[in-house]
Amino acid sequence: MEEIKSVQDFEKKIKRVIITKEEIDEAIKKAGKEIDKIYDGRPILLVSILKGAFVFMADICRSVSVPCEIGFMCAKSYYSGTVSSGIVQITMDLEQDISNYHVVIIEDIIDTGRTLNDVVKLLKGRNPISLHVVTLLDKPERRIVDFKADYSLFTIPDLFVIGYGLDCGELYRNLPYIAEYEEK
Ligand code: IMP
Ligand code: MG
Repeated sequence: MEEIKSVQDFEKKIKRVIITKEEIDEAIKKAGKEIDKIYDGRPILLVSILKGAFVFMADICRSVSVPCEIGFMCAKSYYSGTVSSGIVQITMDLEQDISNYHVVIIEDIIDTGRTLNDVVKLLKGRNPISLHVVTLLDKPERRIVDFKADYSLFTIPDLFVIGYGLDCGELYRNLPYIAEYEEK
């Protein structure tokens, strides 16, 4: 990955917007309604996988009307540039005992499937009342581990994307839209 030394370098890497802020807002409203319908007034615990899902979490928790608590976990999938290394590590765990909760995992993107496969196995072992996975983005073409989310807001092709919480080299998380990253 090239070093970003100026705002021009930064902007040059934003190849094209693939999902606008308006499209994200609309999809989140719909997802919130769906979550309300599924849980029908029962309290839920939204568990966000940091760091990528922090923006999505902030919006999704405001789109649901059921009583909702939030929790955070940090799972790192190691990348060399834009290529996954296949190593997943839980670097920060939940503080809640989840055995009395309907848990909804809030993830930014499912790529190879390794991160969520590991996280779901771990959390299921703690016997929540129920466990569902909501992902903002899904790249099914890239799957290495067979994993399916219960609800996916957008399915995208095999592109490396940035913005709305997603990073490249820790940058671009603050973009309000999702864009393709210029790798060259
Ligand atoms: P997986 O374990 O390969 O499914 O990867 C999941 C994690 O890799 C995501 O939670 C992201 O943090 C990161 N990731 C995968 N694809 C992208 C991408 O296109 N842009 C930014 N981060 C990505
Ligand atoms: Mg992530």
